[in-house]
Amino acid sequence: MAPTAPLNLGILASGKGSNFAAIAQSIRQGRLQAQIRVLIYNNPQAGVRHQAQTWDVPAVLLDHRQFPDRASLDRAIVGVLQAHGAELVVMAGWMRLVTVVLLEQFQVINIHPSLLPSFKGAQAIEQALNYGVKITGCTVHLVELAVDSGVILAQQAVSVLPGDTPASLGARIQCAEHQLLPEVLQHFARGQFVITDRQAIFN
Ligand code: GRF
Repeated sequence: MAPTAPLNLGILASGKGSNFAAIAQSIRQGRLQAQIRVLIYNNPQAGVRHQAQTWDVPAVLLDHRQFPDRASLDRAIVGVLQAHGAELVVMAGWMRLVTVVLLEQFQVINIHPSLLPSFKGAQAIEQALNYGVKITGCTVHLVELAVDSGVILAQQAVSVLPGDTPASLGARIQCAEHQLLPEVLQHFARGQFVITDRQAIFN
């Protein structure tokens, strides 16, 4: 992607929005040259909509239950992203599979709470605890059709401590996410990634 300043982001999220807030905070503090052009969320109750209000970002509800299939939801998503001038799409707690309809129009990145390729899919933190790994973490990767499988852009390790629960480990992983995701976005903003077939290299 060619460097642009600021980088225009479209965020897809439907969780509590702590990653949204971390991105917004990084922008405010001058660590990330970007603008959040729009938030799209798919759950009317999602806490992230309050974050959008707090940070004065337009928020659009696209409830997947109102669409006949994934492709029609993605057509609506593309329309909203284009209307708001998004260039790069960030999935931060977006629990829906995407289709080519979205991927043909936008580069999309995702944050996942494990060191991929371990523990793909839902319940990644529980999977790691159940497996008994001593180190897990978070991954920012390009999105492709297969779940949690695209080119890895960056990872941060988090130790699993004796007595960890999904909540305690999840909280430390989220701290790592809040650092990693804005850093990756800043690399995009500065045009510092060279992405080849299976590799992402910093310039
Ligand atoms: C993050 O932990 C991310 O790894 C996962 O969804 C969660 C969203 O959390 N994909 P939040 O809504 O940003 O707090």
